[in-house]
Amino acid sequence: MFNPLTTPAKTEFNMAMLEFAITGAIFAAVAGVLIYTMIRYRRRRDDNGRQEPPQVYGSNQIEAAWTVIPILIVFVIAGVSARSVWGVEDASPPKNTMHVTVIGHQYWWEVRYPFYNIVTANEIHVPVSHDREHASYFELKSDDVIHSLWIPELGGKTDLIPNRVNHMWIDPSEPGIFWGSCTEFCGVQHANMLIQVVAQEPEDFNKWVAAQQQAQPVPTEISDGQKRFQMAGCWACHAVKGTRFNGKIGPDLTHLMSRRQIGSGVLDNTPANLQAWIVDPQQAKPGCLMPGSKLAGKNLDDLVAYLETLK
Ligand code: CUA
Repeated sequence: MFNPLTTPAKTEFNMAMLEFAITGAIFAAVAGVLIYTMIRYRRRRDDNGRQEPPQVYGSNQIEAAWTVIPILIVFVIAGVSARSVWGVEDASPPKNTMHVTVIGHQYWWEVRYPFYNIVTANEIHVPVSHDREHASYFELKSDDVIHSLWIPELGGKTDLIPNRVNHMWIDPSEPGIFWGSCTEFCGVQHANMLIQVVAQEPEDFNKWVAAQQQAQPVPTEISDGQKRFQMAGCWACHAVKGTRFNGKIGPDLTHLMSRRQIGSGVLDNTPANLQAWIVDPQQAKPGCLMPGSKLAGKNLDDLVAYLETLK
């Protein structure tokens, strides 16, 4: 959050720094006077304890000062806060804004691009916005309990609340991969509900979109791995576009291999990790909603081989 890369993040950062400076100055002044007084008027050896210091009653100047200055500070902070909140929450996105729907689940993120007909998980790809015209606009929803999305470099936290739609927008000024996480306790695997925002140059982003829009080709012959996918019941929760597998409960797997992580950020997406994950997801992510399977040997290899074709 100390490296803000979007307009909302910069607004929040500037506001936070201003308030930090004001409260820091107050702290320094109060603590300074306090420490000075403690040392200057400490008990001395020749102090018999009976002398009373001079008693001062009423001082118009001092009272005016400690009334007026705090009021001014409150007005400044209130004004700056109102302007910042207005800027961050500005809910009228420019025309070219890209819309993304982010849905919180226990314990992963569903990411949909309604205009591009893309469904993915745990990774939000957005174009770099060299001007505010190409901002990305998120609609935040929840499928179960309250979650909260926070990508520190890209802006403050916004909750995902059941039966409600919240919004946030980002316009990253440079490409990069930015980690975020769920910041509202949502269950046992709350801490492992990570997300990545991949900000790409517009041409790279367009390539990603084109690749994600592809359905998986209809095979002339069903592979052993596809049979396994069906017989093990993977399709009950997971969808693969272009096939009959259309589960809606878990992450869409159409382009699983394009993602860097599995399990919402707990494991790198490697064949060995996929295998371990399929056999016992509870090992890497105890309490996650995916059950383990009894697959082993060739059956497991076939299934992983099939998943690896989902580029
Ligand atoms: Cu989702 Cu915490």
